Amino acid sequence: MLNNIRDEKGNFKNLINGEWVQSIGGNFIHIKSPLDDSFLGSVPAMTKEEVDVAVKTAKEAQKRWRDTAIYERAEILYRAADIILENEAELSYLMMMEIAKDRKSCRSEVSRTSDFIRFTADTAKNLSGESIPGGSFPGFKNNKVSIVKREPLGVVLAISPFNYPVNLAASKIAPALMAGNSVVFKPATQGSLCGLYLAKIFEAAGTPAGILNTVTGKGSEIGDYITTHKGIDFINFTGSTEIGKRISEITSMVPLLMELGGKDAAIVLKDADLDLAASNIVAGGYSYSGQRCTAVKRILVVNEVADKLIEKIKEKMKKLTVGNPLEKDVDVVPLINSKAADFVWQLIEEAEEKGAKLIVGGKREGNLIYPTLFDRVTTEMRLAWEEPFGPVLPIIRVNDVDEAIEIANKSEYGLQGAVFTENINDAFYIADKLEVGTVQVNNKTERGPDHFPFLGVKSSGMGTQGVRYSIEAMTRHKATVINLSSNK
Ligand code: NAP
Ligand code: G3H
Repeated sequence: MLNNIRDEKGNFKNLINGEWVQSIGGNFIHIKSPLDDSFLGSVPAMTKEEVDVAVKTAKEAQKRWRDTAIYERAEILYRAADIILENEAELSYLMMMEIAKDRKSCRSEVSRTSDFIRFTADTAKNLSGESIPGGSFPGFKNNKVSIVKREPLGVVLAISPFNYPVNLAASKIAPALMAGNSVVFKPATQGSLCGLYLAKIFEAAGTPAGILNTVTGKGSEIGDYITTHKGIDFINFTGSTEIGKRISEITSMVPLLMELGGKDAAIVLKDADLDLAASNIVAGGYSYSGQRCTAVKRILVVNEVADKLIEKIKEKMKKLTVGNPLEKDVDVVPLINSKAADFVWQLIEEAEEKGAKLIVGGKREGNLIYPTLFDRVTTEMRLAWEEPFGPVLPIIRVNDVDEAIEIANKSEYGLQGAVFTENINDAFYIADKLEVGTVQVNNKTERGPDHFPFLGVKSSGMGTQGVRYSIEAMTRHKATVINLSSNK
């Protein structure tokens, strides 16, 4: 599939107005695999002029797309969902090479994306508006009726992160398209080959010219230009809090939907099923080396059961497989780049220096950081508060439920939280008090299933994603008020 979108020199092109166009600027970014440093391809570092064309094209095309029957839009998405599955092996392999994700997770991301797209089409077909009688408000009669429907916003700018280059791109593109918007899609640079592949799939499925356009280039170079572009009507961004804040500072009067960083806490109470808690903490903390926004990123355990929990976590960590997914099936893989690995390593070193007790791991080979667990982490340590986006988990011992809640809520982040307890009253008490978008009771923190609302509060984001929620976020209400001359 990718060979169809290269120029004669093998460089990738971008999808603009239904055509795969060669770079005009002639500057390229070379994408290499974090697994073996092999060269995967070059993508254009697009110029401002090229970005202008992408946005202008999207603007024009959206005027026609908004009038396309929802049923017809859905048919295109169903085809895209099918084509994704037909290419599952190739796309999963590309993803593994480009972002160093383990094979199993790559395959599940691809099939999950197909399901997401299909579900989005189904949902959009079944959404409807409402009519509101005026007579329900004091002083008005039923001769006045408001017919409320949802309208698209226009051009949606979709910016995705490296860690889910297919799913977190499609979960922006599909709802935007079903809502009648056109899309300018800027993938993460490391992940842009997967992004272009996805765009090719949407094109092959019959997305009309101009409805989906791609922009490649480094966020640090074209990010400000594209996010403040006058032609953009909505920005759907997933990525770091740092960049999310920047976008919210420099944009003006453009609605934003942002899913950002997290420091999800797993709170373990004295009556918890400790086997269940340990399994979920290990799976939630270390899969894809903790490079998930919803990874468990700290453990708050009450003193009475801390030792027992640590023993169980240690046992389960022994089963984690570590290494290069090119060589074997592994859970813990090398991090995306050396900058990320250096950052995680700094947090590990600082925790050790400040007296945290290393229980497992603490070993590094290049960008591969072995799954690491620290006990006796205190609130003085960076590891207690910062998002490592790597395979290291701090255990913070607490006296009781209220201390756990207090520390959990002191975080600048508020994505998700998990509570492990057999007591439904404690579960609800904690769920009620945690300042997060979602609380998982007796499960690891996680985004899916994808029709559930997914959101972060505080520095973890704004707005709500999830199939129906995303469609709604990318539409606005439009009210037409009928005023009948009589009310017999
Ligand atoms: P990132 O560095 O913030 O990059 C995210 C996207 O923003 C990339 O496409 C990037 O492009 C682009 N970008 C960079 N600078 C920009 C700018 N000035 N203006 C506009 N766009 C810009 O994040 P990442 O390293 O890819 O992903 C990891 C982070 O994302 C973690 O903090 C994680 O928690 C968060 N995340 C959150 C969720 C969630 O749903 N809450 C999901 C996944 C990830 P380039 O690649 O070209 O720099
Ligand atoms: O990285 C952030 C993703 O939204 C997490 O999704 O919980 O399914 O891994 P996940």
